[in-house]
Amino acid sequence: MVAPALPFLLFLSLISNSASSPLQSHDEGFISAVVSEKGLVFVKDLLVDQAVKSLTPLRLPDIDKSVKIPLIGSVHVSISNITLYRINVSSSTIRLGDAGIAIVASGANASLSMQWRYSYSTWVLVPIELFDEGSAFVQVEGMEVDLTIRMENQGGALALNATQCSCNMEDMTIKLDGGASWFYQGFVIAFDDHIRSAVETAITKKITEGIRKLGSLLRALPKEIDFGGIAALNVTFVDDPVIGNSSIGFDIDGLFVPSNSEIVSSYLYGESHDLVYSVHCRDPSKMLGISVDEAVFNSASMVLFEEGLFHWIVDKVPDQSLLNTASWKYIIPQLYRRYPNDEMQLNVSLASHPSIKVTSKNIVAIVFSDVIIEVLDGDEAIPVACISVDFSVSGVAGISKDNKIVSKAVLKDFSLTLKWSKIGNFHMFLVQGVMRIFLHTVVMPCLNSHLSKGFPVPVIRGLAIENAQILTSSSTIVLCFDVAFANSGNFTDVSS
Ligand SMILES: *[C@@H]1O[C@H](CO)[C@@H](O)[C@H](O)[C@H]1NC(C)=O
Ligand SMILES: *[C@@H]1O[C@H](CO)[C@@H](O)[C@H](O)[C@H]1NC(C)=O
Ligand SMILES: *[C@@H]1O[C@H](CO)[C@@H](O)[C@H](O)[C@H]1NC(C)=O
Ligand SMILES: *[C@@H]1O[C@H](CO)[C@@H](O)[C@H](O)[C@H]1NC(C)=O
Ligand SMILES: *[C@@H]1O[C@H](CO)[C@@H](O)[C@H](O)[C@H]1NC(C)=O
Ligand SMILES: *[C@@H]1O[C@H](CO)[C@@H](O)[C@H](O)[C@H]1NC(C)=O
Ligand SMILES: *[C@@H]1O[C@H](CO)[C@@H](O)[C@H](O)[C@H]1NC(C)=O
Ligand SMILES: *[C@@H]1O[C@H](CO)[C@@H](O)[C@H](O)[C@H]1NC(C)=O
Repeated sequence: MVAPALPFLLFLSLISNSASSPLQSHDEGFISAVVSEKGLVFVKDLLVDQAVKSLTPLRLPDIDKSVKIPLIGSVHVSISNITLYRINVSSSTIRLGDAGIAIVASGANASLSMQWRYSYSTWVLVPIELFDEGSAFVQVEGMEVDLTIRMENQGGALALNATQCSCNMEDMTIKLDGGASWFYQGFVIAFDDHIRSAVETAITKKITEGIRKLGSLLRALPKEIDFGGIAALNVTFVDDPVIGNSSIGFDIDGLFVPSNSEIVSSYLYGESHDLVYSVHCRDPSKMLGISVDEAVFNSASMVLFEEGLFHWIVDKVPDQSLLNTASWKYIIPQLYRRYPNDEMQLNVSLASHPSIKVTSKNIVAIVFSDVIIEVLDGDEAIPVACISVDFSVSGVAGISKDNKIVSKAVLKDFSLTLKWSKIGNFHMFLVQGVMRIFLHTVVMPCLNSHLSKGFPVPVIRGLAIENAQILTSSSTIVLCFDVAFANSGNFTDVSS
């Protein structure tokens, strides 16, 4: 059985490919993501939607007040259970600038309900306490909410700050159920400003709080994404987001490290590359573009190699007779002579990490392997010879109908060198044919069965990717796609 690590690696190598280069400390990212204007509009709509959901219903503080009413005198009024229960937003915009990200929701209407109660004393021979109570509805029109968010890198995580948040309303209509008509006028005069500012303050506070929550959510995002307890993708942000005219770019480290990070960055490497924020989607209307440098795939390849995952025993092949010395009778006569009619197995290991290179045409992986031929004698496996098999495969990455990254690899070429032998020298051109069969019938089918299953593009739960495109350029793979709700409107409330 071929260990699953090889296909994983080769898969990675197929969707990328690079030459080794000296290791060096890296302070630049190898994965860049750019959210386009269309993507920003999606995020803005999502935020406004979440804000409206988190704002309704909203309970505002009670108000107690003494009001002077002509002919009646001083009336004590309390308004309680002030509830903002509906907000409609007619339009919203997002703008990027030096101050940060500005989101404006305008033309919003809001509805509030409340209970009122008044009491006052009057004299009819003796003082009498009079009171009444009822409910009131307030309709707010032309409300505008203005929010500016700054986003920066704090220790590798994204930090959000609401640097400015305001709420202003144009008109307010108050409707009282019950109550004397003298009270209505007094109520409106005394409470209009109060209600107005209570609503504005509450909305501002709630939105600022929401941004803070969103900020802690972002800060709490893992800095590493684990892959099977073997390798982890370092998703640390390496610098501040770059705010463009109509897009935001993020640069993350993007290299694989071992899951148990005792073996640290010794084999993280970076070549100088000019990838930062240069994500170019063929179709600029895609919401999100992600470019992945070939160094990412090479780092995965190195981790898997260092973790010792690249060796396996091949004892089953489609043509099982190949694993009997009888088949080798005329190829390596001395093998057959020494071990006639014995079963064999191949002990395959990689001599170094596969190297992956991405070009504008395809992705190439170069694999350096050592194949030890072992003869099975009873319970014993006797190594008889070792052949270095260096081969390269190439493939083109594509997107399947269900939006997974898939590929199909073909064997490009291979070369053989005899490393050592206990059965004397033999010419490599003799074993070439058998090796070709081995590569074509064992290695490639196994690799392709993994590649065809595909690799899902990770997305936030509740969202799905759509209309994905993949293209390769010199040293990077660029993935461009749109994002949509997986099942309409069932996105988990991020602010709660
Ligand atoms: C407060 O207002 C809400 C919404 O109008 C209503 O459902 C609730 O019954 C009220 N509570 C009291 C104590 O009046
Ligand atoms: C707000 O109310 C005004 C007046 O009733 C109406 O014309 C407008 O369409 C409303 N806007 C929304 C978003 O409901
Ligand atoms: C919001 O819109 C709904 C339907 O579009 C309407 O029934 C409701 O009255 C509106 N509310 C406000 C506060 O404008
Ligand atoms: C955000 O606010 C925190 C705390 O008030 C502050 O430490 C930080 O520097 C602010 N960041 C920005 C970008 O304003
Ligand atoms: C951003 O807009 C300004 C002025 O509108 C323009 O001079 C600048 O080249 C633009 N930058 C980019 C990256 O498009
Ligand atoms: C992850 O990347 C950051 C930024 O490049 C780096 O400082 C950090 O050491 C990396 N983490 C590991 C475990 O290598
Ligand atoms: C395979 O070869 C390696 C040396 O490359 C050796 O350590 C290992 O024991 C061999 N495995 C088997 C099952 O023969
Ligand atoms: C929303 O998600 C929940 C839990 O995941 C599920 O139970 C519910 O059926 C979904 N609703 C819709 C409309 O898809």
